[in-house]
Amino acid sequence: MTKPIQFPGEVRSNSIRATIASGEPKGLRTYTPTQAVLARSAGVFHWTPEGRRLYDYSSGVLVANLGHNPRSWLERLVRYLGWDAAGLAADPPLPPLSQGGNDEGNVARRTVDEIEYISAVPLTAYNAITELEMRAVERLLASVQASPGGRRLDSVMWAASGSEAIQKALWACLHFRRDRDVMLATRHGFHGKKGLAGAVTGSEKDPDRDPRVRFIGFPTAEIDDMEKCSRDIDLAPYRRELVRLADEHRGRINCLITEPYLGGGGSYHPPHAYLQMLAEFCDEREILFILDEVQSNFGRTGDMYAFETYGVEPDIVCLGKGLGNGVPVSAAVGRGDVFDSLKYGEASDTWSASPISCAAVLATLDEFEHTNVLEHARQLSEVFIERLPRLKETGVVTKVRGEGMVFGIECAALGTHSANEVANAVVEAAYLGRDGEGVHLLGPLAGNVIRVSPPLTMTENQAHHSLDLLQAILADLHAELEPAPTGEPAAARA
Ligand SMILES: Cc1ncc(COP(=O)(O)O)c(C=O)c1O
Repeated sequence: MTKPIQFPGEVRSNSIRATIASGEPKGLRTYTPTQAVLARSAGVFHWTPEGRRLYDYSSGVLVANLGHNPRSWLERLVRYLGWDAAGLAADPPLPPLSQGGNDEGNVARRTVDEIEYISAVPLTAYNAITELEMRAVERLLASVQASPGGRRLDSVMWAASGSEAIQKALWACLHFRRDRDVMLATRHGFHGKKGLAGAVTGSEKDPDRDPRVRFIGFPTAEIDDMEKCSRDIDLAPYRRELVRLADEHRGRINCLITEPYLGGGGSYHPPHAYLQMLAEFCDEREILFILDEVQSNFGRTGDMYAFETYGVEPDIVCLGKGLGNGVPVSAAVGRGDVFDSLKYGEASDTWSASPISCAAVLATLDEFEHTNVLEHARQLSEVFIERLPRLKETGVVTKVRGEGMVFGIECAALGTHSANEVANAVVEAAYLGRDGEGVHLLGPLAGNVIRVSPPLTMTENQAHHSLDLLQAILADLHAELEPAPTGEPAAARA
């Protein structure tokens, strides 16, 4: 059994962590040195069972873009499902006795149908259709097509997780052109761990590679800090690599999949021209261009979709995470002619287009379309773009990169501590915080990069307050990990 993470004074949290450690395999979670136990959440905050308040800088891994449990979103969700007060109380009037009703019959009929059960949308409608599904398809297509670059996207293939949406998109591509079996994927991308999603993740150096997948370069060193992002980078080597692969696999390249920015790979946000170059290459050779927006969709890059931000027109876009604001739902949205290559049942499963996921998509679209959340996120982004680089003053952070409301802060090695140890120490120190308040971060990406992606609905005051808190925590951590030589105050060197 894995030894559970424990923190002094966290009696309830420690006991929950111990039960989880004995009853679940560690492989079920990505290592995060805190294993925060969340008792409740609202907006940008989580509360631990001990009553400490944590700013959520993860949005539950880019899911709760609208914050946790937003009241108006929840109200919409339950209304779509028929679980609102009106639905729950619904007690259809009994036929009057004068019209042939009698007390006995009425009681029997109501007991079975209307007292023990609620007349609402079913929670499962496998191989049947609900009106919610129809509305979710119409609304999602209208949403992607309203964004510049969404012209080709006219069909929705639902799934439950991001990797399933990727898997289905790749299946469709491989069925559409059976004579083309090579898939290009950007190196160090993350598309999921299962099946074909796992096959197009990572690089050729990882074990168990699928011989049909060839990896291509993605800019990293040239754009590893925000300061470098305004510079033009030389795209010629990237273009040459593509042409070389096209020559090598003449006529056999089926599709190219990339994220708009490398998320799990360490938050590398390329110049828009790079993605445009990939899209052009695909168009020239009729290669299907798949954009994995599982983490970027619904506002993370400052627009509803990253294909709009980056000025590209994908054949398929994969959506997930923020699509349901916490309810598991994902989708590949793309060209109907490509998706039609799959026969009945080839992309079906129990949960795709489940009524609750369709209701969540509708409620989330409502919020994005009827509130100023995108505009607010763009203003909030300016606060983070201005303030995150100041974390470098603490000496703990060396590089900062990102856009919209998704950032990566890269940690330095300090004293005898490796950059990975420092990054883990940051996550732990931020969690422990001070005066009953902390910042919830996830374990580092790519060794030493910490993702900052709070809900888009965070207020500017909350942003400043939480950034002040983080700045102070990092300054203290620096003093602890790399104590100043005797006689020199730590602050003087920061
Ligand atoms: C860009 C991207 N694609 C796909 C996935 C896989 O999604 P899921 O974990 O829901 O399978 C993720 C998850 O982090 C992701 O960030």
